[in-house]
Amino acid sequence: MITAETIEKIKETARIEEVVGDFVSLKKRGSSLIGNCPFHGEKTPSFHVSVNKGIYKCFGCGVAGDSVRFIMEHEKYSYPEALKFLATKYNIEVEETVESKENIELNSARESLYIVSQFAAGFFEDQLWNSADGKAIGLSYFKERGFREDIIKKFNLGYSPDVWDALTLEAVKNQHSEEFLEKTGLSIRNDKGKLYDRFRGRVMFPIHNFTGRVIGFGGRTLKTDKNVPKYVNSPESDIYHKSNVLYGLFHAKKAIRDQDNCYLVEGYADVLAVHQAYIENVVASSGTSLTIEQIKLIARFTQNVTILYDGDAAGIKASLRGLDMILEEGLNVKVVSFPDGDDPDSYMHKVGAGAFKTYIEEQRQDFILYKANILLAEAGKDPIKKAGIIRDIVESIAKIPDNIKASVFIKECSHLLEIEERVLLTELNAIKVAKSKKAVAPQRASSFPSHPDMPPDDLFAEGGPSAEPEIAVSQVSSDILQEQEIVRLLLTFGHELATWEQTDNMYIGSFIIQNLSDVTFENDLCKRIVDYYRNELENGQLPTINQFLRSEDAEIANLAITVSTSEYSLSENWLNKHQIYVKDETHNIKSAVLGGLYYLKKHKVDSMLTDLMNQIKDEKDVTNQEILLGRYAQVKNVERSISKFLGSVIVK
Ligand code: CTP
Ligand code: MN
Repeated sequence: MITAETIEKIKETARIEEVVGDFVSLKKRGSSLIGNCPFHGEKTPSFHVSVNKGIYKCFGCGVAGDSVRFIMEHEKYSYPEALKFLATKYNIEVEETVESKENIELNSARESLYIVSQFAAGFFEDQLWNSADGKAIGLSYFKERGFREDIIKKFNLGYSPDVWDALTLEAVKNQHSEEFLEKTGLSIRNDKGKLYDRFRGRVMFPIHNFTGRVIGFGGRTLKTDKNVPKYVNSPESDIYHKSNVLYGLFHAKKAIRDQDNCYLVEGYADVLAVHQAYIENVVASSGTSLTIEQIKLIARFTQNVTILYDGDAAGIKASLRGLDMILEEGLNVKVVSFPDGDDPDSYMHKVGAGAFKTYIEEQRQDFILYKANILLAEAGKDPIKKAGIIRDIVESIAKIPDNIKASVFIKECSHLLEIEERVLLTELNAIKVAKSKKAVAPQRASSFPSHPDMPPDDLFAEGGPSAEPEIAVSQVSSDILQEQEIVRLLLTFGHELATWEQTDNMYIGSFIIQNLSDVTFENDLCKRIVDYYRNELENGQLPTINQFLRSEDAEIANLAITVSTSEYSLSENWLNKHQIYVKDETHNIKSAVLGGLYYLKKHKVDSMLTDLMNQIKDEKDVTNQEILLGRYAQVKNVERSISKFLGSVIVK
């Protein structure tokens, strides 16, 4: 039994943001932190962590608790296991009332696997630095390849002697049981029942899980003989599941979070080299093709992945398709490729740490555009090949869950491929429609407030009148979302001053109301709120959010509560949706208010256009038709200027 004092100490020391932060990428929002809930699948964050209270709560699925509860739920640990996990994390000595023999035996088998793995890592490391062969063969190998001592030490690299059973003997001598040596794969039993070492005469790369415990090894041969496998790796075990491990994550996770980006490379050597260039946010998939689990692991820390590719063209083409999987998870993917024949490791050693860093920062390219460029170069002028490329690229774009992001790529690819945007959009819509027909659940159920600013579908319908019917339908529902967004802005920022140009420092509430004079609200509830707000202003009152929160009208109160507690973050949303980095809070508000107003107006104008076009179609009289066409052109002009404004206002 763990003593009460120890439990108290653990609970006092554990910081909820650090404990949760090891598993969930958290962003600051007001007084709390927020991220995607690890307990239910979600793409918009509803998982809140209160640093002051030391607790977490998910507004999506309802889970809640403190640090210990989090570890129990997340790692499926018992109460004492969770406490011990936290004790290890915070270097707290665990006092137990009866440290009995049974207790030691009860120490779960998993724990024994960790212990023997850690022992082996220590053994290999000691061999590398202190044994004659280790120094002469292993250490000098690393040094010849240009790796610095601090890097060799940081990754606990080692050397396994070139004899049959060096590790096995040493481990058994130190009371480690054969059972666990076998289960970790460190030792193998031969036909005669004798144990021998899996790794012999190799330099050793211990693989850590992301809490820093050794779970397996990769051993690289020092021979150039093609018949010897370059790497021997630990087999799967109860503590080592290859598909959800990323080499280097333990050393990278803090930097990944700080830099909000994760570099992805192929090999152990690449991870070391990139670290040596003082870039610490790097992990390797270790030879296997990237798995969904690995992508989700990265997504806990950041939404941005940058792939560092070997320069060999065949390899690049083969892996392009695999990257669609990352897009599908909603991550942003960038790539850097190296000159032919170089991988990150060789290139870093060739040009040096400084130049390497500059190179990857300057060469970083968006994946979709990179892919388009590569395929384009390959197709040359052949029109049939080019048609194939369009499909291929648009398929990648269709994987991106965020429609606005997708539309940005469509635009850029249209320039790149010299194809009208409309053609690409038609293709994209076709793929999306086909996909949504396959999908069981409709993707865009009206889920306000998690998507208060649902991307306007009409961006995919710039063909205007020829738009397909399903687009017109979703346009209506996102129209209402735009109206709700205005209500949200009104209630959240109405009492603040609009400090940007042409507002004469009026209240944002007045500014919004003034700009709504030409807008008819469709949603009755939104209309009531806006009308009430306008009325109050006309009576010289600036309404407060409390008036709405405590409104006798239950519907109004409900909507007010929803918008004021919505898991909505300005900066994140603008960033995700428009790839716009907003500088400060004032800037955020301006963007949100202006953006919200103009999106709403654009929607209104768009439905006018659809209406007009239908009228034109039905109109038999040629003169009337011409009048309608003239009106259409006028409205279209308004629409254009709004679109243009939308493109510019938000970045200003
Ligand atoms: N790999 C493996 N078995 C092999 C070859 C490769 O498991 N026979 C895995 C290793 O995890 C390796 C990764 O694939 O790190 C990438 O392979 P490679 O680029 O060949 O390895 P590097 O680590 O770059 O090795 P080096 O530069 O020392 O040749
Ligand atoms: Mn390599």
